[in-house]
Amino acid sequence: MKLWAKDSQLLPEIERFTAGEDVHLDQVLVPYDCRASMAHAKMLEKIGLLTPAESKALQSALEEIVRLHAEGKFQIRPDQEDCHTAIEEYLTEKLGDAGKKIHTGRSRNDQVLTALRLYYKDELEKLKSEVEALRKAFLQFGKRFGKIPLPGYTHTRKAMPSSIGLWIGAFADSMRDNLAAIRWVSQLIDQSPLGAGAGYGVPLPLDREFTASALGFSRVQKNPLYTQNSRGKFEASLLHVIGTVLLDLNRFASDVIFFSLPELGYLQLPETITTGSSIMSHKKNPDAFEILRGHYHRVLGHELTVRTLTANLISGYHRDLQLLKRPVMESFQLAHECLTVAHVLTENLQVDEARCRSAMTEELYSVHRVLEQVQQGIPFRDAYRNEAQRWRKKGK
Ligand code: ARG
Repeated sequence: MKLWAKDSQLLPEIERFTAGEDVHLDQVLVPYDCRASMAHAKMLEKIGLLTPAESKALQSALEEIVRLHAEGKFQIRPDQEDCHTAIEEYLTEKLGDAGKKIHTGRSRNDQVLTALRLYYKDELEKLKSEVEALRKAFLQFGKRFGKIPLPGYTHTRKAMPSSIGLWIGAFADSMRDNLAAIRWVSQLIDQSPLGAGAGYGVPLPLDREFTASALGFSRVQKNPLYTQNSRGKFEASLLHVIGTVLLDLNRFASDVIFFSLPELGYLQLPETITTGSSIMSHKKNPDAFEILRGHYHRVLGHELTVRTLTANLISGYHRDLQLLKRPVMESFQLAHECLTVAHVLTENLQVDEARCRSAMTEELYSVHRVLEQVQQGIPFRDAYRNEAQRWRKKGK
């Protein structure tokens, strides 16, 4: 039964439509919603709205739900709409009045925000360690092959001398900046919305500091309306950061695909990371890098979905916001997959030193030659012209 059910039955089409994907996606939120409910119950006990016995019974029933969920045995029925209802119904069936009291002083609006934030915090920690691990894998690659020279490209044409170390170091440095971006967004979302109710506060002496610190938030998000208004805004920032990480992987993939082109052959992809063609027996294809490159676009699409879903809404809760869940959850999922795969690919990537060295052709040193003349006192523009003329005479 719905928490809000009155006298007449909701049409089944409307029930299915409004619950939408929450019946499945909210599975992820079950343990987080339970943690938030535990903190909320303890706070209600502290302010005298639950007896110690009721609070204790709620704690152990919530722990039981977490256990059942871990074993894949806690289901959300379509008529229950979401995890909040499924959990409250379980508590009420099991505990009677204590279960019926758990929703005192809260709304599903602040409840869903709290569960989501706790979930984001865990996901961001995971993301942080994956990014750090990849940064180390890049550095390791640089240690193994860094001294090998490599042509540097601009406009997909040879430009100036570079090295494997310079190339891979760019990605290691970028991962370091990504870590700073992840830390920034982690701090942004690290504020507790619990106690904001439907968005306008609750006329009870709730101890919001207590629940915030019990849940490990560093502060309370004080303005109750802002808690609602930040749904979507925070998610857009999250996806922007995830997208920034995947943009690096997108470029990394494009570089590898280009540098491993058989005609260039600077990088070698062992058979363990390439795929074949069903018709062309000679092929060794960089599919993994192509998929890696492609996933960035999906996250970018998700960011756009989140940004546009959030715009034009007046202040306060709207059910539209429920639709943010899939793009955010899928983006985290994609980021974890891509970072793990990028790590494996980096560890298996080989450099063909001979191909790299033989590619270090004369034109790469044109700037060096010009600057040698400059050091002998020739004005830069004259030296540049001398070099251009010499090059033209060679018919290049
Ligand atoms: N599933 C809902 C969501 O994600 C939970 C909040 C429902 N609140 C409401 N007022 N209908 O937004």
